[in-house]
Amino acid sequence: MTGKDDIVMVSAVRTPFSRFDTAMADIPSIDLGVMVMQEVIKRVGIKPEEVDEINYGSCIPAEVALETDVPARQATLLAGFPAENISLSLDRACCSSLTTLRLGILAIRAGEAVIVMSVGSENMPRTPHLAPGLRKGNRIGHIQLIDCLFELGYTSKGFNPFALDAGEVALEYGVTREMQDAWALRSQELCAEAYAAGKFRIGEELMPVVIPQKRGAPIIIEKDESPRVTTIEALGKLKPIYGSPTVTAGNAPPISAGASAILCMTRAEALKHGIQPLATVVTSVAMAAEPRKIAQIPAYTIQKALGRAGLSIDDMDLIEINEAFAAMPLVSTKILAGGDEGKWKALQEKTNVNGGAIAIGHPVGASAGRIAMTLAYELRRRGGGYGVASICGGLAQGEAVILKV
Ligand SMILES: CC(C)(COP(=O)(O)OP(=O)(O)OC[C@H]1O[C@@H](n2cnc3c(N)ncnc32)[C@H](O)[C@@H]1OP(=O)(O)O)[C@@H](O)C(=O)NCCC(=O)NCCS
Repeated sequence: MTGKDDIVMVSAVRTPFSRFDTAMADIPSIDLGVMVMQEVIKRVGIKPEEVDEINYGSCIPAEVALETDVPARQATLLAGFPAENISLSLDRACCSSLTTLRLGILAIRAGEAVIVMSVGSENMPRTPHLAPGLRKGNRIGHIQLIDCLFELGYTSKGFNPFALDAGEVALEYGVTREMQDAWALRSQELCAEAYAAGKFRIGEELMPVVIPQKRGAPIIIEKDESPRVTTIEALGKLKPIYGSPTVTAGNAPPISAGASAILCMTRAEALKHGIQPLATVVTSVAMAAEPRKIAQIPAYTIQKALGRAGLSIDDMDLIEINEAFAAMPLVSTKILAGGDEGKWKALQEKTNVNGGAIAIGHPVGASAGRIAMTLAYELRRRGGGYGVASICGGLAQGEAVILKV
């Protein structure tokens, strides 16, 4: 499959993902977006004016609101793209930066664009508390501050915290707390091994974040800040969060800041520019289900993508399923295995082989792009093959992309 009309990923980069309380966590998400937008074109010698469309995902609007709105437009201008560039800010929760990729692909297919950029950026630690009602004055009574990071759910509109849904559904699928903790430990260990093997490195998936200081040398961040050394005993002692029966701070990802960007064009266009593609985008699909199915939706979306591509899960050499919690890869691989215990174990072994969001971090709007590029770079290291990346988000929506190297 090497047609000139194939859509190919030609450049893909992300910042390291921050911890909650570090210097990087003070950088506005728009500025993180600017960094990856400049870097992703620089690496392949594409000029800003050659990019037709920039789709930009971000899903904590309260943080963006510190700079008002249209983060895509602001970042596009700040990054030096021409004023004529068409951009779109979108929120499909954690799916956002694969939705942006899919929209770019559709634009190329429709003949509306030749070179498209998909961006995801988020700074969760910088999310302010909201003080509703102050504009009209607080005649009498307490002032309420709302933390829209709390429970990361949609509880004010009556939906469950998704740690509750995911934990309950995991148990219904026979995925116990112990299995989720074991997956969390595996994520930390595989991420440490990937770093030791030089896999997450500057110039490949990662770019450095440089933070100038008033005095002295700048702070330079070159690695994800959240990976930690842990044990199964320590994980087992953590209390569940947000009313979940199984989800804890250990088998959930941390609160992170970070950005990712991917540049796509046709193979013919890449050839014209003398660019060696990173991966071919075989297909890219979206899905949604009832909100409670948040842990299952990556599996359903992968099934849809495989059906679209005429492939089977057995054709996939690698799988990335975002670790919104450990429950997601465990429940989703179980569904994909179709009730075969041996196949379930085999699918787990090729899933998130360099660890996942539990260790790496999960700046929600940027993570979908991260899993797609992690997949592309690992397929390349292995000399090629097929892989699928899928993510859940926002009341059981899903995105999946199948790549071939
Ligand atoms: C779970 C959550 C509330 C924890 O926030 P926090 O309290 O600031 O996180 P911390 O890193 O301080 O961890 C809390 C405790 O767990 C411990 N802990 C966390 N991970 C651990 C691990 N792998 N092993 C052992 N202990 C761990 C910490 O040491 C800390 O212990 P302490 O209270 O004794 O200091 C927050 O990370 C969260 O909301 N995560 C989910 C994010 C999410 O839902 N993202 C979207 C998914 S789509």
